[in-house]
Amino acid sequence: MSNKPSDSEFNFLEHSMEFLKSLSKLTLIYAVISSFGISVIYFIEEGMNSGTQLNNAFKAYEGYGSVNQFFIDYPQLYQFDDQVQICDHTTLTPENFVKQYVNKQRPCLFKGYAKIWPAFEKWTNQSYLNETSGQEIIYAEKQKDNRFAYFTAGAKRVYMTYSQFLDTFQDPNRTYHYYFSFEDPPGPLKEDIIDIPIVQDYFELEQLTFWHGFGTLTRPHTDAMENIICVFEGYKNFTIVPPHHTPFVYNGYEGLPRNYSPLEFVDPDYTKYPLFKNAKIMSAFVDQGDCLYMPSFWWHQVESSKGVTLALSHWYKVQHEFTQEIIAHYQDKFL
Ligand SMILES: *[C@@H]1O[C@H](CO)[C@@H](O)[C@H](O)[C@H]1NC(C)=O
Ligand SMILES: *[C@@H]1O[C@H](CO)[C@@H](O)[C@H](O)[C@H]1NC(C)=O
Ligand SMILES: *[C@@H]1O[C@H](CO)[C@@H](O)[C@H](O)[C@H]1NC(C)=O
Ligand SMILES: *[C@@H]1O[C@H](CO)[C@@H](O)[C@H](O)[C@H]1NC(C)=O
Repeated sequence: MSNKPSDSEFNFLEHSMEFLKSLSKLTLIYAVISSFGISVIYFIEEGMNSGTQLNNAFKAYEGYGSVNQFFIDYPQLYQFDDQVQICDHTTLTPENFVKQYVNKQRPCLFKGYAKIWPAFEKWTNQSYLNETSGQEIIYAEKQKDNRFAYFTAGAKRVYMTYSQFLDTFQDPNRTYHYYFSFEDPPGPLKEDIIDIPIVQDYFELEQLTFWHGFGTLTRPHTDAMENIICVFEGYKNFTIVPPHHTPFVYNGYEGLPRNYSPLEFVDPDYTKYPLFKNAKIMSAFVDQGDCLYMPSFWWHQVESSKGVTLALSHWYKVQHEFTQEIIAHYQDKFL
């Protein structure tokens, strides 16, 4: 790691500030920090602007080349596993899930957890979807290829009935691909879902996203909320990279938004993107009936099954102890 921050490190620094901001309630972190003294506020605000002050602070106080190196050397602050762990929903208590996974920002795969939902029996039945909710107006992304990102050139958001949307799957010669990926489940299908037992006493639900498509690929990106995604038809194959490896994903390059990477995570072009060789790449295969816990700010590219894929995300905002640990760390080191 060189002492001079590269462009991608700048990205990371700004990103990590966004990360701290969004993981914590901003007012809370400021309140806590301001009770420590003015110098830390200065240091964090400067860090948000350019990143250089933040790096300098790490050099001066910690002897680290960059904040990224700091995260790598403090695995207890930012632990990650070699592989996505399997969580057993029948034995793992909610308390232990929060302690061992959420607070440590470790993804985990719940095999068969979606099978306890009414949706699991019902949503593979096209006639059921059509009969109960076919007349609902939905909007879908419409584009010529199946590689989806909300900003794709030429992509449109189109309104149609859910029944018309289902019909698009039947046409083998379709010119356009459609992806229902913006909203709650349509109409009465909301009755087929449940609060996810393992988090319902801990997290407050912010949002649902119903993901219905045919052979879609989602470009690598991050989201600012905790996601528990359950698959009801087909599968979703996640290829993921931990947030502290953001310096290696060229995020925001090539005119993309900062939470998108131009890379192909599955078969990367290392000549064009050599830093990506340093990235830890993991995968999580979320089969029909499984749920995946995907912590906020993890990079993920998602390849869905070749046919119909139907999944649902529950999104949560969480006040992580991780943030508190970093604050505690600053308190020890800087004050
Ligand atoms: C599919 O749904 C339709 C309409 O609700 C129902 O009549 C039919 O029995 C269902 N089929 C199966 C295999 O459950
Ligand atoms: C849905 O139902 C409508 C009639 O209400 C029918 O025209 C359409 O073909 C059905 N679509 C599917 C995919 O079952
Ligand atoms: C799809 O295209 C093929 C080849 O052009 C053609 O033979 C077939 O009839 C088309 N199917 C439909 C449903 O239009
Ligand atoms: C899922 O992704 C992994 C990693 O890229 C790959 O090895 C595996 O073959 C994929 N599985 C399917 C069914 O596409």
